Amino acid sequence: MNLPKRVEIMESGPRDGIQNEKTFIPTEQKLQLIHALGETGIKRIEATSFVSPKHVPQMADADVVYRNIDQKPDLQYLVLIPNKRGFELAREAGAKNLALVAGASETFNMKNVRMSVEESLHQLSLVVEEAKSEDMFVRFSIATSFHCPYEGIVAEETTLNMVKTLETLEVDEIVLCDTIGRANPYQVYQLFSKTLDLGTKAKVTAHFHDTYGFSKANSLAALQAGITSFDTSIGGLGGCPFAPGAAGNDSTEDFVFMLNEMGIETGIDFEKLMDCVSLVKEMTERRLTGHLQQVRGGSLKQRV
Ligand code: COA
Ligand code: ZN
Repeated sequence: MNLPKRVEIMESGPRDGIQNEKTFIPTEQKLQLIHALGETGIKRIEATSFVSPKHVPQMADADVVYRNIDQKPDLQYLVLIPNKRGFELAREAGAKNLALVAGASETFNMKNVRMSVEESLHQLSLVVEEAKSEDMFVRFSIATSFHCPYEGIVAEETTLNMVKTLETLEVDEIVLCDTIGRANPYQVYQLFSKTLDLGTKAKVTAHFHDTYGFSKANSLAALQAGITSFDTSIGGLGGCPFAPGAAGNDSTEDFVFMLNEMGIETGIDFEKLMDCVSLVKEMTERRLTGHLQQVRGGSLKQRV
């Protein structure tokens, strides 16, 4: 098996995880989660998103959340940005690490950010230029890289062409997102292999949802293709308001547990991660889908 020694995890719980929660989570609780996650040893957290409060009410406190994070110096706090306005607001709040997003599929992109893919890429290319001139870190997520909830399967070529465009913009990281959790391991292996075969200079990251229960198999397929950077959400929270039917992200604690068992380092303290799971259980109304929080007793002791 082709496996790395170490995997890097970006915790998306405070953004992808809770953006779809119906009841507004108080800002204090969001900060408590971000701070608790910071204690686990994780090095990357997507803290919030600067999006329209009308479209995504849960993220309406992005500015206050970001400004009040007690930032650890060695931890990267990312903020999701869909357009120029989001960039301006994030910059005012002091954000230095941007997570831009556009969809590969036209219908999804129109519903998600109310722009055509071309409009998104044009507007965000100007953001990338400005952000780079200010030495910001720029990551770019390609939502619906595999499947669109409205149009069905997305052609490999469409996503790969977008990767090529992003490479010309010299973004620091490209994320291929299975936004609706519909991809299968073969598809995942193919698309990530072909992305790396392009000689992509940006870091390439995988982002899976577990709608059909394939997220762990998909992660393994991505690992096999040579990917070592993943997005996950604590407790398996997650889902996009504009991707109907999509379930949560691959759960951070399940993935870390699996990697630990396989002897792959993450630098994350598993016990502390489970404390964060308890925290999100209290914060959200949703039944968590992560497997480990359903396991009882001493069976969570790691073998390695
Ligand atoms: N953050 C906060 N407010 C924003 C904003 C942003 N990023 N972008 C626009 N706005 C405000 C505008 O200032 C304007 O305010 P006003 O009515 O007080 O003048 C209003 O929203 C409408 O602006 P407009 O450009 O017409 O936006 P829109 O209604 O077409 O929505 C997006 C476009 C991108 C802002 C919206 O679709 C969105 O927030 N999408 C994100 C969805 C998401 O988070 N998905 C999950 C992650 S993939
Ligand atoms: Zn997602």
